[in-house]
Amino acid sequence: MSTLLEVKRMETFYGKIQSVRGVDFTVKQGEIVALLGANGAGKSTILKTISGLIRPAQGSIALMGEDLTKKEPHTIVEMGVVHVPEGRRVFGGLAVTENLELGFFIKKRDKAKLAQNLDMVFQMFPRLAERRKQMAGTLSGGEQQMLATGRALMSEPKLLMLDEPSMGLAPIVVIDIMKIIKQINQQRGTTILLVEQNAKAALKLAHRGYVLETGSITMEDSAGNLLADDNVVKAYLGVH
Ligand SMILES: Nc1ncnc2c1ncn2[C@@H]1O[C@H](COP(=O)(O)OP(=O)(O)O)[C@@H](O)[C@H]1O
Ligand SMILES: [Mg+2]
Repeated sequence: MSTLLEVKRMETFYGKIQSVRGVDFTVKQGEIVALLGANGAGKSTILKTISGLIRPAQGSIALMGEDLTKKEPHTIVEMGVVHVPEGRRVFGGLAVTENLELGFFIKKRDKAKLAQNLDMVFQMFPRLAERRKQMAGTLSGGEQQMLATGRALMSEPKLLMLDEPSMGLAPIVVIDIMKIIKQINQQRGTTILLVEQNAKAALKLAHRGYVLETGSITMEDSAGNLLADDNVVKAYLGVH
């Protein structure tokens, strides 16, 4: 498998406070990679740095060999890196379909392609299809997560970055969301970088995982090995 994303020696600061301390990791084409760690470990900061929302002080971020560290966020999106932020951030006063249309910025005037991608998202998320005229603000948390994820798929990302998709959702809804993430990877071949505090749920579908502690990666292994090691799960990943 070829490398899609390669992060080397990433260092990110907020003012004088360092939140990411020399992080190295890779995501290969077609993989689901879990980035795990407790609250405050630096997971969201890493995704924001990849997206170009924060500049790294040091290090490189390459997408298929092309450096992202000096690119504008919108250029990074156009290159195929789409970030679904923590807390979903759907437009509550807009209908489901309108939210999805806002995710379509490739080939803006291509109406046929827009319709085709809307169909694709509605097939992937039948619950959204049933609610296409409903205001996003009136959807449940799980449905809003589906909408935020569907909106990201509208632009056919090469790399989909999901920040804590399970946050605040009931366990049964978490299972639904995780199934859909797996389906996106298997059916569309989309490469996924999945940030989660819910390590068990994430490792059940990821191929590999990295554990982040106070801004540094302390462990890296196949998802199976991380999940099988009870001590690892208890000591570093919390019990969920
Ligand atoms: N906007 C900010 N300004 C200053 N410090 C921040 C900001 N955002 C996050 N941090 C700090 O950076 C560290 C990592 O945060 P974050 O990346 O949000 O962690 P995680 O997503 O793993 O919970 C934490 O210590 C947090 O307090
Ligand atoms: Mg976070």
